[in-house]
Amino acid sequence: MRIFVTGATGWIGTAVTGELLDAGHDVVGLARSDASARTLAARGATPLRGTLDDLGTIKDATAAADGVIHLGFVHDFDRFAESGRIERAVVETIGDTLAGSDRPFLLAAGVAGLTPGRVATEDDVTGAVGPDAPRGGSEALALSFADRGVRSVALRFAASVHGIGDHGFVAELARVAREHGVSGYLGDGANRWPAVHRSDAARLVRLALDDAPAGGVLHAVAEEGVATRDIAEALGRSLDLPVGPVDPADADEHFGWIGRFFALDAPTSSALTRERYGWTPTGPTLLDDIAAGGYLPGA
Ligand SMILES: NC(=O)c1ccc[n+]([C@@H]2O[C@H](COP(=O)([O-])OP(=O)(O)OC[C@H]3O[C@@H](n4cnc5c(N)ncnc54)[C@H](OP(=O)(O)O)[C@@H]3O)[C@@H](O)[C@H]2O)c1
Repeated sequence: MRIFVTGATGWIGTAVTGELLDAGHDVVGLARSDASARTLAARGATPLRGTLDDLGTIKDATAAADGVIHLGFVHDFDRFAESGRIERAVVETIGDTLAGSDRPFLLAAGVAGLTPGRVATEDDVTGAVGPDAPRGGSEALALSFADRGVRSVALRFAASVHGIGDHGFVAELARVAREHGVSGYLGDGANRWPAVHRSDAARLVRLALDDAPAGGVLHAVAEEGVATRDIAEALGRSLDLPVGPVDPADADEHFGWIGRFFALDAPTSSALTRERYGWTPTGPTLLDDIAAGGYLPGA
């Protein structure tokens, strides 16, 4: 199949593109720079120059594809509302273009804030609805296209999709730890982050492309919840820094934008995903990757 992928040069998108090419699909990847276009071409994908604001380009590429995997996102957490507006417009464009086609539309989503205080499952419906919701309410919007003849599927990724070279949340925690000379956790550090290795997440995306039904929700989660204190201690050992608690009232000052995410308790099950798609994560754990030096400078 010819699959249009946004974010094909990103952390998850790079691995997903590899999976798709290995499975014999053609990948057309949105590339916002010459460097990203060259990277895609070198991997065997077809670059399409454009940004997430270029809705005409996204519409045309969607119309020409057998399916779409939307992994691009403007990760500017200081302008999160604007990122949400961009995200919503992209999802609306893809959904409208695919309406009535029964073609697959897979979209990246998260697990933050799904079911505070209890383990989230694939059956939990997101409460983030409407343009002003986090991420522009994009998961709910994408899934609503299932009623309009689109095989739309939500891929809820664990809070940490980790591996060597990760530049996401855990990399930011490592940067903050180096800056302060201490690897901190909030309060008693008992709150949990789910985690998955990038290779396992990418394999699940391919399985979803093959098998997930319209309206399907998948949890790319290998570890239901890693205590944030354990993450801080592992980072402290790896970076050779002391470990200590941070008063939750000082979360923003100490951690910056990542503080609001590090405070979350987001245990997340993937039992239904494993059962439905025969998916068994095999990659290293988050603490393994930290111990292996995956979050040292230059890793
Ligand atoms: N990584 C995680 O732990 C995690 C966890 C939960 C959910 N997610 C979600 O999963 C998705 C993929 O995450 P990721 O970690 O792979 O993100 P990432 O590494 O930051 O990659 C983002 C991708 O989007 C592209 N992009 C950014 N702004 C763009 C713009 N204005 N126009 C066109 N392309 C643009 C980037 O292109 P360039 O390569 O050219 O910069 C890159 O390909 C995102 O929706 C993210 O929020 C990720």
